[in-house]
Amino acid sequence: MRNALPIAGNHPILEASDLGFSYTEAELFRGLKLRLEAGEVRVVLGPSGSGKTTLLHLLAGLLPLQSGDVRWQGQSIRGLSEEALARRRLFYSGLIFQHHYLQAELSALENTLVPGYLAGKVDLPWGMELLAKVGLAAKARLLPKALSGGERQRVAVARALYNRPRLLLADEPTGSLDRRNAERVMELMLSLAQDLGTAVIVATHDEHLVRGLPEIRLGET
Ligand SMILES: Nc1ncnc2c1ncn2[C@@H]1O[C@H](COP(=O)(O)OP(=O)(O)O)[C@@H](O)[C@H]1O
Ligand SMILES: [Mg+2]
Repeated sequence: MRNALPIAGNHPILEASDLGFSYTEAELFRGLKLRLEAGEVRVVLGPSGSGKTTLLHLLAGLLPLQSGDVRWQGQSIRGLSEEALARRRLFYSGLIFQHHYLQAELSALENTLVPGYLAGKVDLPWGMELLAKVGLAAKARLLPKALSGGERQRVAVARALYNRPRLLLADEPTGSLDRRNAERVMELMLSLAQDLGTAVIVATHDEHLVRGLPEIRLGET
């Protein structure tokens, strides 16, 4: 399966300029700048409440922009309709959250294929290949309730990468896992994204997990 979107010129995968956001009185950040090329990784660090989730939601177009702009491959998401944005998000990005949000009634393999159904490109061998890459080939037919927390999150990683997104946004993807599983999921997520040339933004409050990766810090006073 090839990428769903043509390569458009020489634009960065993700660019944010002069981004600012406040909920009522509390300003979370301002003047934030970010530029991500294909395959690059950026870690968003900061304590709980510092605005990591808010930033990721702005970058994903899940929250209306206040000041500044967000561009996906050179195109501002500011003017896009809800439908255009949802469609763009489906083909362009993959999302992972702290909670796996797997469908309880679908197997690991079926969950992995969900973005394919939505995009009209179901490719079973590719779904199986992704599950194998996250170490779950033997558990492809199991329902989420039969999987451990770390395994569920590995299915969420496979699902997020199914459409070969240019951009992966992961919000505390290991936040509900113990250290060993957190390390495994983080490692798998980053190496799989690297293989696919997918740029990654990962928010975490756990600095040890992402040591050495380029970072953006929120909540510094
Ligand atoms: N919908 C909302 N309305 C008002 N305040 C919010 C809302 N969502 C988050 N906040 C506040 O914004 C701050 C940043 O939240 P968040 O982006 O979730 O931070 P983090 O992900 O770093 O924990 C917190 O103080 C939170 O309480
Ligand atoms: Mg958060």
